[in-house]
Amino acid sequence: MLCSYYDVALESGDDAFSIDASNITFGPGCLREAGDIAKNLGIKRIAVFTDDALVGTEHVATVLASLNAAGIDVALYDNVRVEPTDESFKAGVKFANDADVDGFISVGGGSVIDTAKAANLYSTYPAEFLDYVNAPIGGGIAVPGTLKPHIACPTTSGTGSECTGIAVFDLLEMKAKTGIASKMLRPTRALIDPNVTSTLPANVVAASAFDVLSHALESYTARPYTQRPAPATPFMRPSSQGANPWSDLGCGEALRLIGLFLERGVHDATDTEARHQLMWASTLAGIAFGNAGCHAPHGMSYSVAGLVKDFCPHGYPQGEPMVPHGMSVMVNSPSVFRHTSAGNPERHLDGARWLGVDTTDLGPAEAGRALGDRLVELMKATNMPNGLIGVGYEAADVPALVEGSLPQRRLLDNAPIEIDREVLTALYEGALSYW
Ligand SMILES: [Fe+2]
Repeated sequence: MLCSYYDVALESGDDAFSIDASNITFGPGCLREAGDIAKNLGIKRIAVFTDDALVGTEHVATVLASLNAAGIDVALYDNVRVEPTDESFKAGVKFANDADVDGFISVGGGSVIDTAKAANLYSTYPAEFLDYVNAPIGGGIAVPGTLKPHIACPTTSGTGSECTGIAVFDLLEMKAKTGIASKMLRPTRALIDPNVTSTLPANVVAASAFDVLSHALESYTARPYTQRPAPATPFMRPSSQGANPWSDLGCGEALRLIGLFLERGVHDATDTEARHQLMWASTLAGIAFGNAGCHAPHGMSYSVAGLVKDFCPHGYPQGEPMVPHGMSVMVNSPSVFRHTSAGNPERHLDGARWLGVDTTDLGPAEAGRALGDRLVELMKATNMPNGLIGVGYEAADVPALVEGSLPQRRLLDNAPIEIDREVLTALYEGALSYW
């Protein structure tokens, strides 16, 4: 079964990979199944997590009606912050503690799903907040056991949070994004209803799709699992185990679908086929990166989002500057893949081909340029910001962006090339502007 990418193993490298399958229902209208699923999971009183922009939508109404019909008691929390912080996570935990629930359902984007994961974790296994946060910023201690059931209902075609065991937030005192990563955080069930995409603004569809695109490219080009140290016990094998044959399947198909449907889905809200296919691509890439892990574009995105100055994009909550997750990743991606192609040029060429480039006459030396150029072409075609300058940074900000990303070793070490301070500086400099 193994192809050559996995044959180049470290002597101390892992010789197996694990697949933690997400339990998914996908299809138009499936939010109506929420009540029956919650009942089947044994939930009697459920916390419904959402945000103030979504709480009045038909998506939340459908879920609430379904829960009511199934006879499940509901505690509604609509105070989730978009781009959550340690403070907003703690507010969600307090709500969960006070509400005394035996299950969770999240209806929203990655911020909502991640907040529900944190509320579930800390209300089930109370601890000091930083204890479960990834080292070296936090203690990185293991989650003690299974959490309460959590049904995740994504309302954007992007983060893939419904398929992963990761919860990301801004740690305010450090002005840095970090997260909690444990297989235990993966939602018990995901209800993925592509009808939710019909009302999304073009800018949100584009930013979310670039997040998906980067999940797939990062997982596919990640260091192979055979070059990661073997775990001391089977249970210590991380979700970020590197590229593996299972994740490869989802990455290839996700990239092919994005190559076909990205521009259509962004520019025409009535193009149901394109928007549904982007949701399916998001699901596939979520399953893939939930078992492989991302690398440098995501590692670098944390400081791009955390150090935001005055960027306020259309289609997102106004009043406070923010670089939405997909944009904070995407501005780095062309620069990163131009550099990382040295680690596995064939995989970068595969990525370019799936995204629509004719690679027939291209060799390994042209892989990084071909992939990076295609990404830039897609960014221009969907009116995305022109690199770091497009989201409010300038060259003088590069040292601070580097400092903010250096602690993200879990992600940086998953890249196919070594990434030290010097390389990271070159990657940010290469991401300043693209056209
Ligand atoms: Fe992401």
